[in-house]
Amino acid sequence: MKKKFRVFVTSRIPEAGLQILASKCELDIFADEKLTRTQFIRHLQDKDGLLCLLSNPVDSEIIDSAPRLKVISNYAVGYNNIDIQAATRRGIVVTNTPGVLTDATADLAWALLLAVSRRIVEGDRMMRRGDYRGWEPQLLLGQDLKDKTLGILGAGRIGSAVARRSVGWNMQVLYFDRKRNPDLEEKVNARFTPLNQLFAYSDFISIHLPLTAETNHLVDEKALRRMKSTACLVNTARGPIVDEAALVRALKEGWIAGAALDVFENEPEIHPELKSLNNAVLTPHIGSATVGTRNAMAKIAAENLLAVLAGGKPRFPVNHIG
Ligand code: GLV
Ligand code: GLV
Repeated sequence: MKKKFRVFVTSRIPEAGLQILASKCELDIFADEKLTRTQFIRHLQDKDGLLCLLSNPVDSEIIDSAPRLKVISNYAVGYNNIDIQAATRRGIVVTNTPGVLTDATADLAWALLLAVSRRIVEGDRMMRRGDYRGWEPQLLLGQDLKDKTLGILGAGRIGSAVARRSVGWNMQVLYFDRKRNPDLEEKVNARFTPLNQLFAYSDFISIHLPLTAETNHLVDEKALRRMKSTACLVNTARGPIVDEAALVRALKEGWIAGAALDVFENEPEIHPELKSLNNAVLTPHIGSATVGTRNAMAKIAAENLLAVLAGGKPRFPVNHIG
């Protein structure tokens, strides 16, 4: 039987998702490393559905070059890579994969927080260089976590999961978001705090906001200068929320003690000086990178896409059509 729908998948996602799609659709899976704009437009022009990654910019030109397109299923919770207005104007449903990656991402934020505060990566580098000479009273002294103040920027699913994990360290949780989160206030005694105060009082700040025009460079020079010189910044959300050049100065000049970053302003490029800073921990955007989570994301992304093509409602739409 001829399959009814044609779908472009911009990269090989886990089989769990591809199998779901292949049962109903003719798949065009892009297998090379880098998808150029010209290739993207060429592959998409006769497709009904698109399954794409957060690293694929889907702008109005790309959207308008695909007259049959009905659905854009993003293999991510964040969807700042897609021009939502352009998609909505064309009646194209955009979907994402929230929920299933909450715990994996919250775990990575904590892994980074612990790594930067206890200088794990610096220690690892020292061992590999052969510079370890035995126990020393002043070797790689870091920061305590117990009873400290954790500032959460963005108290959605992931920010809340990060806050809940702080209970083991008896931390005071401050949070900032566009609206209050009564559930978080009740469960971990979190305090809704204006941005300026959150920057000034937190010992650790972890970012869990979506990237929008309002959050772009939210953590700028002024914010970094407000932070304690002993504080650490963790970013597992989106790179452009932090002014990377200002952060480099903050780390070099000791305005703050350290930063742990899973996301960068111009991925996959990173500010060249970050690589030479010992008080920066750098990971390659692996917040949701566990086997179980990526399988679950693949299934949801596939189901979202098929639901739209079948004329129904997807589980996780991010725009409203008609
Ligand atoms: C990862 O960054 C995501 O948005 O899913
Ligand atoms: C994303 O899933 C969030 O709401 O934090």
